[in-house]
Amino acid sequence: MSRPIAITGGRVIDPAQGIDRLADVLLKDGLVEAVTDAPGDTPEGYDVVDATGFVVAPGFIDIHTHLREPGLEHKETIATGTRAAAAGGFTTVCAMPNTEPAQDNASAVEFVLRIGRERGVVRVLAIGAVTLGRAGVQLVEMAELAEAGVIGFSDDGNPVADPNLMRQALTYSQVTGLPIINHCEEPSIAGAGQMQMGVIASHLGLAGVPPEAESVMVERDIALAELTAGRLHIAHLSTRRSVEAVRRAKERGLRVTAEATPHHVSITEAWVYGLAGATPDDGALTIAAYDTNTKVNPPLRTQDDVDAVVEGLADGTIDMIATDHAPHATVDKECTYQEAAHGISNIETAFGSCMVPVHAGRLSLEALIERMTAAPARFLGMDLGSLKPGFPADVVVLDPAAAWSVDPSAFFSKGKNTPLAGTSLKGRVMTTVYAGEVVHEAGVHVA
Ligand code: DOR
Repeated sequence: MSRPIAITGGRVIDPAQGIDRLADVLLKDGLVEAVTDAPGDTPEGYDVVDATGFVVAPGFIDIHTHLREPGLEHKETIATGTRAAAAGGFTTVCAMPNTEPAQDNASAVEFVLRIGRERGVVRVLAIGAVTLGRAGVQLVEMAELAEAGVIGFSDDGNPVADPNLMRQALTYSQVTGLPIINHCEEPSIAGAGQMQMGVIASHLGLAGVPPEAESVMVERDIALAELTAGRLHIAHLSTRRSVEAVRRAKERGLRVTAEATPHHVSITEAWVYGLAGATPDDGALTIAAYDTNTKVNPPLRTQDDVDAVVEGLADGTIDMIATDHAPHATVDKECTYQEAAHGISNIETAFGSCMVPVHAGRLSLEALIERMTAAPARFLGMDLGSLKPGFPADVVVLDPAAAWSVDPSAFFSKGKNTPLAGTSLKGRVMTTVYAGEVVHEAGVHVA
């Protein structure tokens, strides 16, 4: 058993308990022992993490992580993905089932959970597929997967396109109590689109995806959630119209929750120009244009959409941040924009990206931490995401003001695919503690 730890002198923000004050956090036997007033006397025998000037919060929970194992270990493994998660301040991640084979049966799920226990640097939970092979044709054995321990069902990467299949899945969600997490994108509208439809797509000569490809399916799923009284969770919400649809659904008391990604709260479609959000002055494209690291699904949106997503997060319409960490191999991105894989490796930059609206005064730090801790814990229905005595000793120490430059070659993730390379973020994870063990210290490689 690890030595007890005292994290001293920091500003402790624990939204689940309404705590926001200077305090010491004591960790013992893998559990939170107490949050005491600072400055306190550090009990003897405790290792001290000096958090003076920093924020101390429950470890972040990510309900949407692509760990790629089994089958796609050249992109990421459970070991590398969870090490990256620790660097990003996450102490719990939920593995999406778009692996090969897909997590569509109990033994596939048990494999992920077992490798998570054996090689995971942080806690690994599993999400089951909605349909066999994520092919959108036949439902998985939902009760069997629930018994194997999945926390929800998703065909993420693919939508559940068939409305009646979605209706059936939502009906079963009543029985299992587990959410159906849909990647809301109507394929017949998205077509061969590569990025957000609009002036920039036209300028670049790329086929555009209209925002309605998302909102049409969000509206469909809300209607089906109402019909079935099922439990719906909408993955990576990214447009103003979708946010408004979820807001109305919540006002009507439906069982609908939603998440937003760090990129959809911080960067726009203009990043496809490859100029860190700037547009070429004279309209002439530079060599940096068509940055394939900006290709993601749903696509990067307009500033108005980003504003709507941030407003949704601030007022609670969007329940939580979820990364959609999508690591890819270099070959998947060193190609034409049309051929490139969708996704951004972002679990190590998530906090810094989410601080963009905080520094802009559009989201409070307390709300952000709530959306990354208490809210996903409620979604999971687990005793996580808080520093209550007896809860797992999962803690993150943050410096919200520290500026740092993003260097993908220093990522623990195998996925170096980020459009943020060379840019600066303000907000840094200093230390991550999982189950009472320090699993990440900024600038220090913890084995
Ligand atoms: O950009 C994305 N990449 N969006 C998804 O929904 C799936 C993900 C992946 O698995 O690469």
